[in-house]
Amino acid sequence: MKIAPSILSADFANLRKDIEMSEKAGAEYLHIDIMDGHFVPNLSFGEPILKAVRPYSNQIFDCHLMVENPEDYIVPMAEAGADIIGVHYESTPHIYRVLQKIKEVGCKAEVVLNPGTPIEVLTDILAFVDAVLVMTVNPGFGGQKFLPNMIGKIQRLSQVKTEQKLDFEIEVDGGINEQTIQECQKAGATVAVAGSYIFNDSNPMNKIKVLHKVTGD
Ligand code: DX5
Ligand code: ZN
Repeated sequence: MKIAPSILSADFANLRKDIEMSEKAGAEYLHIDIMDGHFVPNLSFGEPILKAVRPYSNQIFDCHLMVENPEDYIVPMAEAGADIIGVHYESTPHIYRVLQKIKEVGCKAEVVLNPGTPIEVLTDILAFVDAVLVMTVNPGFGGQKFLPNMIGKIQRLSQVKTEQKLDFEIEVDGGINEQTIQECQKAGATVAVAGSYIFNDSNPMNKIKVLHKVTGD
């Protein structure tokens, strides 16, 4: 499984060090949580941080937008070095337009679902997206407990993917540790975000390796 360390739980005073560590540990993605204090009740950081760290990593930059008016952030994110841009289905009345815009700027288009949003809302856009991110906690904060009800949702999404012979990634985000990652993988997830599990440990590099190991990589 691909691992996406979330820098939300990294040491902001030593961001470059943590990012270089995560690449060295073999993490394929770097997950960057952009929060505006409106769509979610928390603030994080914006594209200047992305731009600042881009020269120090060859990882795939996976930008998770938790903002209102996501269409305003697509071009700045792409210019700052995003590879994948994830937009919440719930954050715009024009999800298709925003996903089109992401592709137009040369990035991979990812749609994100809150825990309360069923996968059925994606029926008519699944063939268009590069990835679906299933939130396994309520968005806004690191360190929350994995919601076990989300396993059935991942299974249903994976079933649709197989039936329709589609090839989007299924990413999971929130409460991922060495147990929950295996449950998500069994259900069909292909990418896992992990923040506090990795960065709250005294040996974060080892934690990334453990996540790869328990998922067979
Ligand atoms: C939460 C963010 C997550 C967060 C995950 O809204 O989307 O990416 O950093 O943190 P953990 O892995 O600690 O649940
Ligand atoms: Zn996230």
